[in-house]
Amino acid sequence: MKSSASNPKAGTTSSPERALHLDLLDAASVVGCVLRGQSLASVLPALAAQQNWSAQRRATAQALSFQTLRALGRARALLRALQPRRIKPAQLEELLLVALALLSLPEPRPYADHTLVFEAVRACASQSRIRHARGLVNALLRRLQAQREALLLQVMQEPEARYNHPQWWIDACARAWPKDWQAMLDLAGLPPPMSLRVNRRWGTRASYLDRLHQAGVAADAPAQPGLEQALLLQRALPVHELPLFDEGAVSVQDISAQRAAGLLDVQPGMRVLDACAAPGGKTAHLLELSDCRLLALERDAERAARIGPGLARLRLPAAQVLVADAAQPGQWWDGEAFDRILLDAPCSASGISRRHPDIRWLRRPDDVAALAAQQRTLLRALWPLLRPGGRLLYATCSIFPAEGSERVQEFLSEHDDAVALPAPGQILPGTSPARDGFFYALFAKLAKAPA
Ligand SMILES: C[S@@+](CC[C@H](N)C(=O)[O-])C[C@H]1O[C@@H](n2cnc3c(N)ncnc32)[C@H](O)[C@@H]1O
Repeated sequence: MKSSASNPKAGTTSSPERALHLDLLDAASVVGCVLRGQSLASVLPALAAQQNWSAQRRATAQALSFQTLRALGRARALLRALQPRRIKPAQLEELLLVALALLSLPEPRPYADHTLVFEAVRACASQSRIRHARGLVNALLRRLQAQREALLLQVMQEPEARYNHPQWWIDACARAWPKDWQAMLDLAGLPPPMSLRVNRRWGTRASYLDRLHQAGVAADAPAQPGLEQALLLQRALPVHELPLFDEGAVSVQDISAQRAAGLLDVQPGMRVLDACAAPGGKTAHLLELSDCRLLALERDAERAARIGPGLARLRLPAAQVLVADAAQPGQWWDGEAFDRILLDAPCSASGISRRHPDIRWLRRPDDVAALAAQQRTLLRALWPLLRPGGRLLYATCSIFPAEGSERVQEFLSEHDDAVALPAPGQILPGTSPARDGFFYALFAKLAKAPA
């Protein structure tokens, strides 16, 4: 049996050339790798390369595994309610988690329930190691179908099932944002918005909006200050369907991330350090806005290799790209002070967890403190490189205060020659306009520390 029609809302498209049971098996492999500690960003390309997946097969595996990970808390609780004994082997448990996550989605679901049950049983029967359990798969999934409301009511009493995040994350969110945490966690269960940044060197936002309309793509231009180049698509689409993408007219970048370059107020000729630069989204934005002398630093060589091609696609002047540790300026700094420094620091990525639904399951509670410590080290190491009168922008895509307001208080208490300038502070993930969570603090360096 073939999978049912595609559901653009859910972002899942059935692969025309493949039966759904094979797609379910792919998704179960991806989810299994994530549950064993690998990130989606590494697993998807690795499996696709190893098994020679077509682009369509990879897109379907991605869509199904994203949906599963966004509903993993609920799927795990349902599995425990349906079968209290641990399911073995892991391949069987992973297949069940995918099927339960998809079956427990609110209407309209990407696949008809009977199709999904049939295909999940078929997937099980096709694998020699778990073939014996096809009766169990059939029985558990049919019980969910028959008792859906009662079972959902039961498992939704558990916060991890209700919010589809680990308990420590839910607690941290509720502590930090007593009014907003539920809405924020619910939002992380939905597919993210897609925003564009029009390359100012290519043309105006209005002219690109015209091109989108001609291509039949609906988009809005947010009116907020600091978002002059931003467009919000009403529906996500693959970049190759964006007009003039290869010609460098536009980049994909969330509107919260688009605030960085403008806040730095870079002028032509200034020496600018982008300290944690890869893959180069903000590097490119800085160069779109001004002819500055830009040093893009990145510790990870593979990621650093993506910066140059990105700038070339946008027809931007080259930046100097250096693979180095920003926390060790003694190893790479030539002694000439910077007018501007962007520290887009490594962080928990808790503000963009709906873009990366694996992150919440991969992170451990101690990670936030460790990342905050890295941010402290980077701030301390980079501040001496800023010339008096210069500005440093500290940014994270986090919603945890340890990676935002707490670092700012600590930094200001340690540096008499730093003053905080107006900046957005904490931006929570939200809908109006649709955006990611981010944190920004802007510091100016006084010519002389006050006596
Ligand atoms: C949030 S991402 C940067 C995103 C980038 N600014 C953009 O807009 O495309 C953080 C980056 O910092 C890099 N990084 C982490 N620690 C670093 C360090 N000590 N020195 C330089 N780069 C570092 C990571 O490899 C990662 O690529």
